[in-house]
Amino acid sequence: MTGTTLVGLCGSLRAESYNRKLMYEGARRFDGRFVEGNLRLPLFDEDLQNEGMPDEVTRLAEQVRAADAVLIACPEYNKAPPGVLKNALDWISRVKGHPFAGKPVAIVSATAGRAGGERTQSMLRLMLVPHRAMVLTHPEVLVGGAKNHFDAEGRLVTESYVEKLDALIDRLQAAVSVPA
Ligand SMILES: Cc1cc2nc3c(=O)[nH]c(=O)nc-3n(C[C@H](O)[C@H](O)[C@H](O)COP(=O)(O)O)c2cc1C
Repeated sequence: MTGTTLVGLCGSLRAESYNRKLMYEGARRFDGRFVEGNLRLPLFDEDLQNEGMPDEVTRLAEQVRAADAVLIACPEYNKAPPGVLKNALDWISRVKGHPFAGKPVAIVSATAGRAGGERTQSMLRLMLVPHRAMVLTHPEVLVGGAKNHFDAEGRLVTESYVEKLDALIDRLQAAVSVPA
């Protein structure tokens, strides 16, 4: 294992989340330490920020800042990223020094619908622009009809998705090894 660290952010809080399963599958393929960020944060409120940055926000932002790469698993709620993820990104944006700046970021999504989260991924890419991240553009890992593609142990079993995830994480690893 190399000395690199991957931070995972999952936009679903539910225990049996397919997006978290997909994120873990990505993490297993990454040669380095994996840390999952905690997105159970208070709702962003500038008054709360002015009282002092919540500890869990500072922790999350510093995990991102210290990471060599970030993997975001983004569910699709009404064709868009969930509020949990937007909330986390808004909080992180209030921590000085752009924690995501220059960071290689890979995005994956798993949905009940057939499109696998095409729209949510597109929106997330736009949402990351102000964060100055280096977001990988391809391959797009869009697991549609998610319940059919994981086994009882939460492993991704459908070969076409496995190949895409392999290729995405290879590119993420390469972006860490040879910074752009
Ligand atoms: C509020 C809400 C909105 C949803 N909207 C969509 C949608 O726009 N497209 C889609 O494919 N699935 C949609 N779904 C279904 C999710 O894709 C499905 O519940 C998925 O398993 C959620 O991700 P998770 O397993 O990581 O929690 C929605 C689910 C919820 C709860």
